Amino acid sequence: MGTLPRNKTGVQQYDEAKLGFGDIFTEHMLTIKYSATDGGWETPQIVKTENLSLHPGAMILHYGQQVFEGLKAFAGPEDEDILLFRPDMNIARFNKSCERMCIPTMDPKIFMARMAELLRKDRDWIPRAAGTSLYIRPTVIAIDSHLGVRPSKTYLFYIIMSPVGAYYPEGFEPVKIMVTDKYVRAVIGGVGEAKTAANYAASLYAAEAAHREGFTQVLWLNAVDKSSIEEVGTMNIFFRINDEIITPKLGGTILPGVTRDSVLRLCRDKGMKVSEKVISINDVVSAAQSDKLQEIFGSGTAAVVSPVSHFRYKEQDYMVADGKTGAVARDLFDEITGIQVSKKPDPYGWVCNVGLHP
Ligand SMILES: Cc1ncc(COP(=O)(O)O)c(C=O)c1O
Repeated sequence: MGTLPRNKTGVQQYDEAKLGFGDIFTEHMLTIKYSATDGGWETPQIVKTENLSLHPGAMILHYGQQVFEGLKAFAGPEDEDILLFRPDMNIARFNKSCERMCIPTMDPKIFMARMAELLRKDRDWIPRAAGTSLYIRPTVIAIDSHLGVRPSKTYLFYIIMSPVGAYYPEGFEPVKIMVTDKYVRAVIGGVGEAKTAANYAASLYAAEAAHREGFTQVLWLNAVDKSSIEEVGTMNIFFRINDEIITPKLGGTILPGVTRDSVLRLCRDKGMKVSEKVISINDVVSAAQSDKLQEIFGSGTAAVVSPVSHFRYKEQDYMVADGKTGAVARDLFDEITGIQVSKKPDPYGWVCNVGLHP
């Protein structure tokens, strides 16, 4: 273990320079219990991060009734800064996912206030090195011990936090993605746009197959006829073709990403031609073959913006932009990460500082 330079308590927690993604957890967590028959959400509590005690019949363990979110806190220029990037969007998406999964929603003001309190409690865990942050994982699980299939009447909401470095071992280096026309992630009318465990469990088999072939993530196609692009494992996807920035439109099967929304806004305000539309995989292949495909990049909280150097489709490999990071991906990465840590102006009011007591 190395030292954490800013830790005021002097405890050695982790080595900032070697941070991976999601293996280390901070000292405290927030918990709020819910009972449908006993007053709804109970009083929030901040406790030491510890194992949960669940009955083996708890409904989350059988039917996966669950929702989660992922957002990041950053250290800022001032010592007391704790900077969040568009947390209102994560909270709204959390509640939308809850509605879809028959889970009671949480008052956004309470969610925000308690999350901020937890962040202030564990502020010494926020790493400071470039590219690092404190990843925040709000989660709600169904905890009735009951084996019939129905929505649970009791829930546990909790927030755990993890100091993180780069999501991909490649860092900001380009990644390779594998287009699958064998497996699908979500169907229209399903739960694809909800951030719920089932979507990720369903993705593992194809992701493992892609890893074995040397690809970082799977690029999913639409389930009906596997003709159009959906999203990547944990990212939304963008193409730059003939100087137009194109991303699949939201249609209920893909996650409405916070980073996706930010990328769209930045690109539009930079005067680029931007489209949210149905993109066929055949059009992407044709663009790659005729040198019109200038860039592919993914967007997501964990990796921010992730350039794609290669993709494989129907056993054929295609290289994008000579396998190098494209100019737009680089610019967006710099812009968003700069705004997140207050190194760049934030004309949109995206950054929310919760470092000081209200
Ligand atoms: C399936 C999926 N798509 C897209 C994203 C990107 O969303 P966001 O930018 O809100 O992190 C994520 C990550 O949360 C994801 O898990």
